[in-house]
Amino acid sequence: MNRISIEKNVYIPMPVTIVGANVEGKPNFMTAVWVSRVNSNPPMIAVAIGKEHYTSKGIFENNTFSINVPAQDLLVETDYCGLISGKERDKSQLFEFCYGVTGTAPMIKDCPISMECKLVQTVELPDNHLFIGEIVRVAAYDFFLRGGSPDYKKIHPLLMTLPDSNYWSLGEHIGDAHKIGKFMKVNV
Ligand SMILES: Cc1cc2nc3c(=O)[nH]c(=O)nc-3n(C[C@H](O)[C@H](O)[C@H](O)COP(=O)(O)O)c2cc1C
Repeated sequence: MNRISIEKNVYIPMPVTIVGANVEGKPNFMTAVWVSRVNSNPPMIAVAIGKEHYTSKGIFENNTFSINVPAQDLLVETDYCGLISGKERDKSQLFEFCYGVTGTAPMIKDCPISMECKLVQTVELPDNHLFIGEIVRVAAYDFFLRGGSPDYKKIHPLLMTLPDSNYWSLGEHIGDAHKIGKFMKVNV
């Protein structure tokens, strides 16, 4: 096995989400994988969105957005939201949605979990805006929870890999985080 240099534009496996934002007073939904939690307290999440996307316009209009976690049963709808822009076609009727405390971040009721976010900071990158939002409310169905937290074994979230553009499901549980490392044998 040889360790070689490869193309720089590589990605690590990413969770698939759908961003909801009101644009000109109407809900729009866009698929996003460049998304990550970035702060614990207050809880913050960041999503990188192309400057030209309709969703970016909506986030600037209202300073709010939602991050929705689709399950595998929404695979086709999720991919559609990443293929078609709200500039070309109305995506407001694709899902049942509702509003929370902000009143302007449409949350998808068909998704097991939706996070309602208030924009706290925008970082301008060459292609994207990195929108950092504070999670002000989370809506979840009790069926998908264990001990009050999301149970991803039940939720069946989607993952995506690039550049091959494939969707994947979550694999098996292989260890307890923040615990298994204690079994490390260190020679000091
Ligand atoms: C699986 C998948 C993931 C995507 N992730 C992102 C992303 O993280 N950021 C982004 O700007 N575009 C992403 N896209 C592309 C946008 O979802 C796509 O351009 C969409 O049509 C934009 O919609 P809008 O113009 O209505 O906002 C993704 C597309 C797919 C299919």
